[in-house]
Amino acid sequence: MSQPLLPLDVFPTIPSIRQRIHAARMEDMSIGFVPTMGALHEGHLSLVRASQAECGLTVVSIYVNPSQFGPKEDYRRYPRNLEKDLDMLGRCGPPSPVVFFPNDEEMYPSGFSTWVDVGGVTEPWEGYFRPGHFRGVATVVLKLLNIVVADKAYFGQKDYQQVTVIRRLVEDLDLPVTIRVQPTVRHADGLAMSSRNAYLSPPERQQSRVLWKSLCLARELAEQGERDADRIVERMREIILSVPEARIDYIALADPETLAPVREIRGRTLAAVAVHVGGVRLIDNCFLGLRS
Ligand code: PAJ
Repeated sequence: MSQPLLPLDVFPTIPSIRQRIHAARMEDMSIGFVPTMGALHEGHLSLVRASQAECGLTVVSIYVNPSQFGPKEDYRRYPRNLEKDLDMLGRCGPPSPVVFFPNDEEMYPSGFSTWVDVGGVTEPWEGYFRPGHFRGVATVVLKLLNIVVADKAYFGQKDYQQVTVIRRLVEDLDLPVTIRVQPTVRHADGLAMSSRNAYLSPPERQQSRVLWKSLCLARELAEQGERDADRIVERMREIILSVPEARIDYIALADPETLAPVREIRGRTLAAVAVHVGGVRLIDNCFLGLRS
């Protein structure tokens, strides 16, 4: 059931959102923060609702961060629709979130020249295929966490490596915020919700189910007792390549903390995939359960 639409406050400048947060603090409210790039869907809203349940004031940022897109990526065509986003947020029910909606000049004024490089966990997977991506993510998230000083910040498991990078950032730079991670919200057929799904043509939308299918197969094989990571990866590859339009960037079975590849599945293991379906690059992941 959709909730009635509540009016939302939108703050376009850093001083204005800081002032709003200061006022909430004066009322002894805890602050929850949900950073997004807009084009909101149920995945984003699950983070908003988690924050609403745990915090007095929920701040949602909507900012398509140019520095995390590579030169050949979809920055220009990334979907932007503030009105629709506000409508969705306005239906999340009370307490109404407030929105930080800065422009590029606010976030990267002329002369900006400080960048955050998180080592280690940024190197494989997305870091390899999208050079500079995590430098942009870490920099903007650090800025946002300095603007919206929050008790808790909410991220989705969908972008597992991003969460790992942000945890590292928070720990290494002693940021006083608790990182909360919410499960991936999926469509009925298993496809992880993503703003980029909007780019999929109807046939590509069908074909994109192959990501979740491959992850389910990995989980099944592990549950049946398969311990050899290469064999599982091979079976995942077969499923994905059954779609001729699919092009694999990576299929990885890894330690969930370090993201180091595993050869033999012994404990909780992360399976992560990145696949181009037609012109659209999709990522997904899940944990493999083990039969004891
Ligand atoms: P964006 O892609 O808009 O995602 C915002 C948050 O929503 C991220 O934490 C992401 O993991 C989460 N999310 C996306 N799809 C989800 C799903 N299906 N289920 C649950 N959560 C989901 O990630 C970014 O923006 C940016 O990199 C950002 C952190 C805002 C920095 O610019």
